[in-house]
Amino acid sequence: MFKKITNLLTAISFFAVTTLFGFSASAQQAPIVIKLSHVVAENTPKGLASLKFKELAEKKLPGKVQVQVFPNSQLFGDAKELEALLLNDVQIINPSLSKFDRYTKKIQVFDLPFLFKDSKAANDFQNSADGKALLKSMEDKGLIGLEYWANGMRHFSTNKDFRVPADVKGLKFRIQASDVYESLLKAFGANGQKMAFAEVYQALQTGVVDGQENTFSNMYSQKFHEVQKTIVETNHGILDYMVVVNAKWWNGLPADIRKGLWNGLPADIRKGLSEAMREATIYNNQISREKNEEARKAIIDSGKAKVVKLTDAQLAEWKKAVAPVYAQFEKDIGVDLIKSAQKYSQPAQPKAEKPATKK
Ligand code: LMR
Repeated sequence: MFKKITNLLTAISFFAVTTLFGFSASAQQAPIVIKLSHVVAENTPKGLASLKFKELAEKKLPGKVQVQVFPNSQLFGDAKELEALLLNDVQIINPSLSKFDRYTKKIQVFDLPFLFKDSKAANDFQNSADGKALLKSMEDKGLIGLEYWANGMRHFSTNKDFRVPADVKGLKFRIQASDVYESLLKAFGANGQKMAFAEVYQALQTGVVDGQENTFSNMYSQKFHEVQKTIVETNHGILDYMVVVNAKWWNGLPADIRKGLWNGLPADIRKGLSEAMREATIYNNQISREKNEEARKAIIDSGKAKVVKLTDAQLAEWKKAVAPVYAQFEKDIGVDLIKSAQKYSQPAQPKAEKPATKK
């Protein structure tokens, strides 16, 4: 009898402890499955960096996490991935910065045309206090940004020969889900049609749209160059990503408080994942330039779409045409934030001459 009562008490206290910590003995051994979904091909900066994250996370947290990477909109495409993340149907996604404007207006700063002179300028801004604050700007909506990943500069392509904005008047362009881009196409006298990435090739092929804008890496891996006549190197903006997680899921991951509870091993999952993500970010930003150069060369070598560089005068026409876009979005984004981002694209100040040293 006494033994029975003792056993019962032991069982109750075990139940209480495991309930308190939110897992049972068997769950303790099962790795946390983390789904990472994205829309691009594997052989792209984002595709490769996602696989790198998987490799690093599973190495840093052996037996504790299993990362499943779903490329090519296989699990969720543009239309669904953010909702799916908020529903915890997927735990990590890394959409283009153009796809967040439903959640924060400030992030639209990244879409402003010709704001960043190159990828480095964007990266410098992302690493600034203002850039880092944007990672946290959607927490009240349930999203936490962990890192920015670079892809590269964007260029326009169409099924016609074109050089300047006047040549694209009346044409229809596929754009990402971005109000800034909608306004940009309008400023050129063209039309922007928001469309999921997975649908673009077919839309170009069948003439549903005449053109699109993207990085060389995306154009090549999706074969857009096979159904377009001209790609003009407009360098009109950056295509970078934010790696985002579901805030509730992320904050609920076993952290310090549960140290030692995972098969007797330290179980600071969030720290391990953050470190793996940092290293994957460095890797992504190292390969993005080279991947885009490789894709540009492959497009030229294919002899399909013609890749055109602009003269200074032609480029000036594109830049001049975008003024209304700034006027329209300045208020939502904030003049200070725009200035803060612009800073990194300004020519370096000439260094003050050192006073001659006295002999
Ligand atoms: C696009 O929709 O064109 C891009 O955002 C795809 C991507 O993720 O690079």
